Amino acid sequence: MATGVTKVPIPRRGVDYRGKVVLAPMVRSGELPSRLLALKYGADLVWGPETVDRSMIGTTRRVNDSAGTIEWTRPPSHGQKEKPEDARESVIYKMHPAREGEKLIFQMGTCDPDRAVACARLVAADVRGIDVNAGCPKPFSTTGGMGAALLRTPDKLCAILEALVQNITPEFEIGISVKIRILETAAETEALVRRLCATGITGLTVHCRTTPMRPREKAIRDQLRMIADVCREAGVACLMNGDVETRDEGLRLAAEYGADGAMIAVAAEKNSSCFRSEEDGGLAPWRDVVADYVKISMEVENKFGNTKFVLANMVPGKQMVHGPITQCKSYTDVCERLELDHLLEKARAADMAVGLGEFATAAKKKDKKANVAALAAGGNMAQARKVKKDENKSAGKPSHPAETARPPEACQSAVAASSA
Ligand SMILES: Cc1cc2nc3c(=O)[nH]c(=O)nc-3n(C[C@H](O)[C@H](O)[C@H](O)COP(=O)(O)O)c2cc1C
Repeated sequence: MATGVTKVPIPRRGVDYRGKVVLAPMVRSGELPSRLLALKYGADLVWGPETVDRSMIGTTRRVNDSAGTIEWTRPPSHGQKEKPEDARESVIYKMHPAREGEKLIFQMGTCDPDRAVACARLVAADVRGIDVNAGCPKPFSTTGGMGAALLRTPDKLCAILEALVQNITPEFEIGISVKIRILETAAETEALVRRLCATGITGLTVHCRTTPMRPREKAIRDQLRMIADVCREAGVACLMNGDVETRDEGLRLAAEYGADGAMIAVAAEKNSSCFRSEEDGGLAPWRDVVADYVKISMEVENKFGNTKFVLANMVPGKQMVHGPITQCKSYTDVCERLELDHLLEKARAADMAVGLGEFATAAKKKDKKANVAALAAGGNMAQARKVKKDENKSAGKPSHPAETARPPEACQSAVAASSA
């Protein structure tokens, strides 16, 4: 190994990715309670789900005292001319300063340096790092020039990273990082990684799959040592990602390939205790992890549809309770189904906070039904379908094509097909 290598300095409020096993960014599966669960079981850092710069710009930062969270919200787009009086703001991003503030990395989807800076500025004081997603292969990301499209436009990707390094790091004293996939040949990947490392970033994560590869295809690790070497030479921390199942395996693989740490997605989606080392007890039974998850979700007043979606990945498909969970209408229902009697009181409080079950206002339910019926009666079937789709979404039913396409038993990798 080269001697006298200097590391890119980690800014005062930033975090060094070296020696860490971290939770991957995951749309829907990486919302606040999932991140807190991962931290509870020993994740060293957590990435938030990719949030597109345009959706953050224009949001208002609010403190939610009852849940102890900070939320970036915007007025809901109802698709109809007059929004209901009791319409709640849409929450675009949510974090818990006390429970994850020191460990949270904000990941953004972007294809423009100015917008990236504007977006980062909104959250930089509340998080410990900003990460740019340059790996998402799905058309909704790549057609806009974001995600994996950035791997083919390295000038643009470097300009984004440089703009963040120059504007965000000095002001907020946090580091900038990037998450990429491997390219077809080692030579192409090497050229890209060298350029990225010269932008001033403090960290780089490599998902060891090429852009066309599907999540079920085995990760390819034959470029990893080279990538880790290039990063080390430049003083940039390198995290490996792809088919890492546990903390112990992540640390072993990182050492084997010369990487600095590892990132876990799908294994953590299923059972977050994968972050616990064998020495500390290893994998916990799914029932214990589910109970922890439900409790945390209620504490942070998580969107109920998201809680059910995540539970569908955590409760093994063969369990009798798997199906009924998706039918639940409130946290109380969920606790009853899962026989979490000790959480029933908390469940009632959560239902009251988020307006579920007996606390769902009759007016709200009526409004929703009336909206769909009125739109359909007026011939606006497209709009009616959209409202219905939004309802399904908030009930945890899949709306993304990649999700609807999957067979029910493949819940585990729910959005994996759309993953970066
Ligand atoms: C449900 C889901 C959502 C994901 N969303 C994102 C995302 O927002 N940003 C990102 O960079 N990668 C995303 N990914 C990809 C993962 O971060 C990770 O790179 C990939 O799943 C490979 O890791 P694994 O083999 O440990 O699952 C997602 C993956 C899954 C399964």
